[in-house]
Amino acid sequence: MFRAEVGDDVFGEDPTVNRLEALAADMFGMEASLFCPSGTMTNQIAIKCHTRPGDEVICDNQSHVYIYEGGGIAFNSGCQVRPIEGDRGRINAKQVKDSINPDDLHKAITRLVSVENTANRGGGSCYQLTELQNIKEVCLENNLLFHLDGARIFNAIVENKEDPKDYGLLFDSISVCLSKGLGAPVGSVLLGKREFIGKARRVRKVFGGGMRQAGYLAAAGIFALQNNIERLHIDHLYAKQMAEALLKKSFTGKMMPVETNIIIFEVKENYTAKSLAEALKTHDILVIAISPTQVRMVFHLDITEKMVMETIRVIEVL
Ligand SMILES: Cc1ncc(COP(=O)(O)O)c(C=O)c1O
Repeated sequence: MFRAEVGDDVFGEDPTVNRLEALAADMFGMEASLFCPSGTMTNQIAIKCHTRPGDEVICDNQSHVYIYEGGGIAFNSGCQVRPIEGDRGRINAKQVKDSINPDDLHKAITRLVSVENTANRGGGSCYQLTELQNIKEVCLENNLLFHLDGARIFNAIVENKEDPKDYGLLFDSISVCLSKGLGAPVGSVLLGKREFIGKARRVRKVFGGGMRQAGYLAAAGIFALQNNIERLHIDHLYAKQMAEALLKKSFTGKMMPVETNIIIFEVKENYTAKSLAEALKTHDILVIAISPTQVRMVFHLDITEKMVMETIRVIEVL
């Protein structure tokens, strides 16, 4: 990062940012990309660019874009959401089809479908590519745009041995986080057609996301894309080992299937989600109580095998 060659990215003159954007677009076979400070910003810019105020956005009712972006869809784009109750954060083509408003002046114009892969609140669940293809068909038949919140798309790609280009073919826009499991300290990229990214670049400026010598950060993003993807399967393995240890405990209730690097489970008996998180914190193990009864654990490249084994030992005596 400190050796990065930098320039003013607001003028498009930062060679390292330009390299990151070209690399990310190329990986997904998309025309262009845009480096942004966060995944929230890449999602929100995409929604802003795809919609007009008063439009409706279809997504799962547990989507990050809907429940964790501060009401951004309304705040930034003036749109409303048609939340769908999916299966562990995943919606299907029939649900999308059934949620499209008719051409009726009483109704909002359905404009955009947004899906999340892997789905955070689904416990890192993955879509089947065929289901995404089915949703894409519904989008094409109904003139809808299709956005992927791919904050953890590489976890799905590695787990299911997919090709990023399969996703590039399906979506009008893709947001990919370079932080999270890939390990960069900050940043996300938004991918799409050249014209869309041109528009996104304007919106990024309006949102205050135009950064000057951003190459220092982009350098970490390039490193992450070149070095930290294949190793994601290790995080998935650790998550499964930890899940096994948790399932032996009487305080562990229902656990979502562990597909990638996230564990979400119900806490019962002598602990609440909050008290379990506090007990683990006394051992320097950080987890989040995502509801009064649910705890979330996430694995990433800073979690070593030694830490996993130590955490399992702590869980055994709780
Ligand atoms: C699925 C999903 N999308 C988007 C984001 C937003 O990323 P950021 O924290 O970089 O804004 C997150 C963050 O946790 C996420 O889990």
